[in-house]
Amino acid sequence: MTTLLARIGLITAGGDCPGLNAVIRAVTKSAIDLGIEVLGIEDGFLGMIEDRVRPLLFNDVSNILTVGGTVLGSSNKANPMRYAASKDSGGKPIFEHRADHCLGVLARHGIDTIVLAGGDGSMSIAAELIDHAALRGQPLRFIGVPKTIDNDLFGTDITFGFQTAVSIATEALDRVHTTAASHHRAMVVEVMGRNAGWIALHAGVASGADVILIPEIDFDFDSVCRVVVERSTHGKRCSIICVAEGAKPRGGAAVVARTDLTSPDPVRYGGVGKLVADTIEARTGIESRYVALGHVQRGGMPVAADRVLATQLGHHAMTLLRAGRFNRMVAVRDGQLTDVEIRLCAGKQRTVGPDDPLIAAACGVGVVFGE
Ligand code: F6P
Repeated sequence: MTTLLARIGLITAGGDCPGLNAVIRAVTKSAIDLGIEVLGIEDGFLGMIEDRVRPLLFNDVSNILTVGGTVLGSSNKANPMRYAASKDSGGKPIFEHRADHCLGVLARHGIDTIVLAGGDGSMSIAAELIDHAALRGQPLRFIGVPKTIDNDLFGTDITFGFQTAVSIATEALDRVHTTAASHHRAMVVEVMGRNAGWIALHAGVASGADVILIPEIDFDFDSVCRVVVERSTHGKRCSIICVAEGAKPRGGAAVVARTDLTSPDPVRYGGVGKLVADTIEARTGIESRYVALGHVQRGGMPVAADRVLATQLGHHAMTLLRAGRFNRMVAVRDGQLTDVEIRLCAGKQRTVGPDDPLIAAACGVGVVFGE
């Protein structure tokens, strides 16, 4: 046991995600119980850059467990080491290093320990800030809590938010299933996940999709169209295709919806659902429609499993803090709460492996991955 801290910072960074408020509540209530003051940093690392910090009291975190989003706000753009402070005459961002400024902000607020709910990009920022503070001789340590609907964070088997996204995507797939059956169509549902196919794989299996396309397995349009035609030939007059936004045709590239140069991860995928639906209709003559679920998957109430997981992870972060185990991210491995060095998770993504048991189970029930 180390001497207990009097004050910690709490930050939610990166894309928002159902369960963030459950983490804020768990960390703050556990801290108050230990006599530790919590200062919330607003809008992710942007609030650190802009010195927007406020105390979180019991009442601030009461009744937020079931609420989506984050009461602290978040940003998936602001990186203190590469902050897009202005634009040049051509509209291109001009980046500035604001890490020293951030260290000043933290020192002024008496914060040397921060609980950070974030994804791989946020863990990278934390790792860089830890190094930068060490260089300057200023104490700064982080405890990470793994957040993302994509479930792609290295070092943990699951992230909070994922199960809510899967449940939303599954409901959407179930709903298009009935309209596909009524109209004898192929229905394509595009889900999020960046470079990982976890949401598509789980929602696709849960909803009985006929085809699941994920970034980890390049697909062949011939194979996808063959499924639709064969189903039609055998009297199955509708087909359901669940496609991850980062999935790409063999020999082709993922479909990019937009590029935001101010963001540490500038590429935003989107559009592969339309491509797949249009191609199926053009090649088979079978009427096809698509729907891209987009941010619907990140919004609203977390499901019970995410509320529980986020509460456990937030509380475990405080257990690490009490034990003086800093610069670690809480994690779940083989069903157990554990922790891993933040540096090891920084910037690394956990994608669907070819040997994932769910791929085998899906193939066992006839799902085609378009290979
Ligand atoms: O990482 C979460 C996520 O929702 C991804 O699935 C998606 O690719 C991306 O964020 C979308 O980012 P934005 O909210 O900036 O459009």
